[in-house]
Amino acid sequence: MMRSHTCGELNKSHVDQTVTLSGWAQNRRDHGSLMFIDLRDRYGLTQIVFDTEKPEVLRLGQDVRSEWVLQVTGKVLARPDDMINPKMTTGEIEVAVESFVVFSKSAALPFEVDEHAKVGEEARLTYRYLDLRRPTMQQNLAARHRFVHAIRETLNEMEFLEIETPILAKSTPEGARDYLVPSRVHWGSYYALPQSPQLFKQLCMIGGCDRYYQIARCFRDEDLRADRQPEFTQLDLEMSFAEQEDVFRVAEAAMKAAFKAGCGADIETPFPRMTYHEAMDKYGCDKPDLRFGLELHDLSDLVAEVEFKVFRAVLSSGGIIKGIVIPGGDSFSRKELDVELLEVAKPYGAKGLAWIKINASGEYAGAPVKFFTKEQIDAIAARMGAKPGDAMAFSADSKRIVNASLAAVRNYLGQVKLNLTTPGDFKFTWVTDFPAFEWMPEEKRWQSAHHPFTSVHPDDVDFMMAADPTREDCGLEKVRSAAYDMVLNGSEVASGSVRIHDAELQKKVFQVLNIPEDQIKERFGFFTDALQYGTPPHAGIAPGIDRLVAMMVGTDSIREVIAFPKNARAVDLMTGAPGSVEEKQLKELGIKNIEEKK
Ligand code: AMO
Ligand code: AMP
Repeated sequence: MMRSHTCGELNKSHVDQTVTLSGWAQNRRDHGSLMFIDLRDRYGLTQIVFDTEKPEVLRLGQDVRSEWVLQVTGKVLARPDDMINPKMTTGEIEVAVESFVVFSKSAALPFEVDEHAKVGEEARLTYRYLDLRRPTMQQNLAARHRFVHAIRETLNEMEFLEIETPILAKSTPEGARDYLVPSRVHWGSYYALPQSPQLFKQLCMIGGCDRYYQIARCFRDEDLRADRQPEFTQLDLEMSFAEQEDVFRVAEAAMKAAFKAGCGADIETPFPRMTYHEAMDKYGCDKPDLRFGLELHDLSDLVAEVEFKVFRAVLSSGGIIKGIVIPGGDSFSRKELDVELLEVAKPYGAKGLAWIKINASGEYAGAPVKFFTKEQIDAIAARMGAKPGDAMAFSADSKRIVNASLAAVRNYLGQVKLNLTTPGDFKFTWVTDFPAFEWMPEEKRWQSAHHPFTSVHPDDVDFMMAADPTREDCGLEKVRSAAYDMVLNGSEVASGSVRIHDAELQKKVFQVLNIPEDQIKERFGFFTDALQYGTPPHAGIAPGIDRLVAMMVGTDSIREVIAFPKNARAVDLMTGAPGSVEEKQLKELGIKNIEEKK
């Protein structure tokens, strides 16, 4: 028996028992005739005591260094009252060492395994196995496990089948670059690692599986950020004879169970909903943070008559004017308004951010005031709900720039400047009725806002077919799709849609996307063929597990909830992947590197 208890288990009820613990040594305090070590495992810390009752054991114990792995046998003692540590689960007791075994020693450590030590991310990822020993990482991985386990339980209860789909697959159209795997048997041919199991899960529906899910690894060769990894995990699910409502009910139940198990939070269901257009109007973006209000207000009609040149110029060139209330903003300095907030808006194209303050007596102040009548400002303040003590900030530009820059200002005010969020507050929302297509200005073509297998609103099909997709002004942005997003605290955490189950409609969508017939055949032929053999109506969704768990545990980076993540340059610093391979392997694959990439 390697241990009778774990290092997080013992309390007053075990006093006088002889126990055996195994774990890592940390935090040795040597007082000569008395020495303490905290023994650590996944479950916690237990203080072990060496003293002169066993002089030989004490002498050997003094050789022990940080991160040695020990097995300790001894008696559980109650700590004297003044030594009780209420912060430790084992804080009432200690173990007096009678004998111990050194399972293994540790080389000199690159950094201290300590929650409070400041260690750079490069060192943490290079020695990830040491980093994983820290309680926060242990807690994050355990929370992730409980999260995924609860999802599995919930879906199993609902008759979902967990089905594995291929990793060596064909290119799927999620819009990022593929990771390719060369074939040894078929020179010049490549597998693509799946960007998602999208087509396989739809084929499972055509195959009569009815309800599918998978905790699926997805691979995307795209620019990385804190919330993106080249390989990440989705809860991928799909349902037959189902529509948006059915998917929402299942996804809400899965989230409710997962957050309860993962962190004890009670998530309210059903989630509120808003359409894409409502989200853009009220919040300027399609993933609003609903932990605070701070809604945007369109003022274009109210300011049509004002003398303010900036506003008039924008209106006459087809732009819009929107505003946001800054609660308590009357106390903001000029620098906070003209520099700090403007810096937040600028990356989104804003050329300025006009503001008007309202002092305690209701008087207006700010550069544009002289260009308005009092009645005009009164009307603006009334529409925005601004009160004495507040300020109002305005953006005038194209609709796209106004929305994007005020959305950024809104998030900055709520999340940072006014700090209107509380940890542990999880505000979910559905965003529905996304447009089906968006214009890609650089490539001068339309692409699917979600993916090409997403259903188009039946009332919009005729319009879609009549439109000339070679033109930006053909109105295709008005075509509605049956796509939806799940948004949590201002992040998109899941996307899904009702799928096309009609082979003819699928063909039409490919035509709009300007994918030539031969390419459709080559890339998706297997799928368009399958659609012809009796396809049930089906719908699905894919929540991103990494993002959800990161938000649940309250960290900004998904790397904190992935055991072995890659860094921002897609490198695994621990293994060194990607790495070179032997010449022989390349030869077998028929591959020759023609030049080093600069
Ligand atoms: P989508 O591409 O929107 O949809 O992805 C769904 C969710 O996956 C997560 N996600 C990521 N997480 C970490 N790193 C990344 N690089 C990354 N990319 C995406 C996000 C996102 O909301 N097949 C469709 C789903 C469907 O239609 O059912 C799909 O993959 O949380
Ligand atoms: P200017 O006339 O450029 O000195 O700007 C006068 C005021 O209008 C300043 O407070 C600017 O920040 C603001 N402003 C300038 N351009 C815009 C814009 N596009 N939207 C909102 N406010 C603007």
